[in-house]
Amino acid sequence: MNDLTTSPPADALKSGVRDYWNANPCGTQFTEMERGSKAFYDEVERFRYENQPFMHALCKFDAFKGKTLLEVGCGLGTDILQFARNGAITTGVDLTEESVALAEKRFQLYGVQGNFRTADAENLPFDDNSFDVVYSFGVLHHTPNTQKAIDEIHRVLKPNGEIVIMLYHKHSLHVWLGVPAYFLYGLTKGKLWGYDEWVRIYDGKHNPLGKAYSRRELQEMFSKFKHVRFQTCDTLRRRFPKWLNDLNQKWFATWAGFYIMIYGTK
Ligand SMILES: C[S@@+](CC[C@H](N)C(=O)[O-])C[C@H]1O[C@@H](n2cnc3c(N)ncnc32)[C@H](O)[C@@H]1O
Repeated sequence: MNDLTTSPPADALKSGVRDYWNANPCGTQFTEMERGSKAFYDEVERFRYENQPFMHALCKFDAFKGKTLLEVGCGLGTDILQFARNGAITTGVDLTEESVALAEKRFQLYGVQGNFRTADAENLPFDDNSFDVVYSFGVLHHTPNTQKAIDEIHRVLKPNGEIVIMLYHKHSLHVWLGVPAYFLYGLTKGKLWGYDEWVRIYDGKHNPLGKAYSRRELQEMFSKFKHVRFQTCDTLRRRFPKWLNDLNQKWFATWAGFYIMIYGTK
């Protein structure tokens, strides 16, 4: 496992992570619309769920009516909006001020209730046993100490509370096919690019940190939780024809997807 402890290099890495996502809020790359406009949010939302139709069921957007739900790493607020529209009492945090501001603005624009604040997943600013549900999608593999963030989620979750979390999955088609191809491509450039580099660039050439995990590693990392189970999924490539992505989602992604959903209770 490649987690770092809270040494000065980890602090520097955390600053790099913050700077990167502050400059590139997740989802803004998929639209040309004016940032913060209604057309912008609508386009981000349409693009996300058209390309990742499995999210509606796997993220359980409609399962938490009346429950207090914390999203860790809420980005532009696309998913937390779905929970809020379905009656959850929502709080979103993100490491970056830009994402929090955009998520807050989105809720105001749509007239939906939600609380937002800038916060670090590794040091959540909430009391023990505060939330019925903690949700996090594609976030905890970007923070230097992923285990610390998981332990924080456990701490702020109420007894019997639920987690719905997505992390990157090591034993996936994306890794099996991509790493050898990327290695060969690297050789043509005189570089030795391997697994770590392939996982990192999934979120952009300048993304400072990305990690992926096996089910076995995740079992250990989530061992404080009860009833832990996994489900993989993904979209092969957004630019591939729909029929190919549909085929992948039906036949391959359910056992070797690059996204691994983690469910469990405290
Ligand atoms: C790939 S984006 C995902 C955003 C959102 N969950 C989504 O799916 O659109 C990663 C997000 O994680 C946030 N992030 C990274 N490290 C974090 C940390 N330690 N605490 C809170 N948020 C963090 C980034 O600021 C960024 O918004």
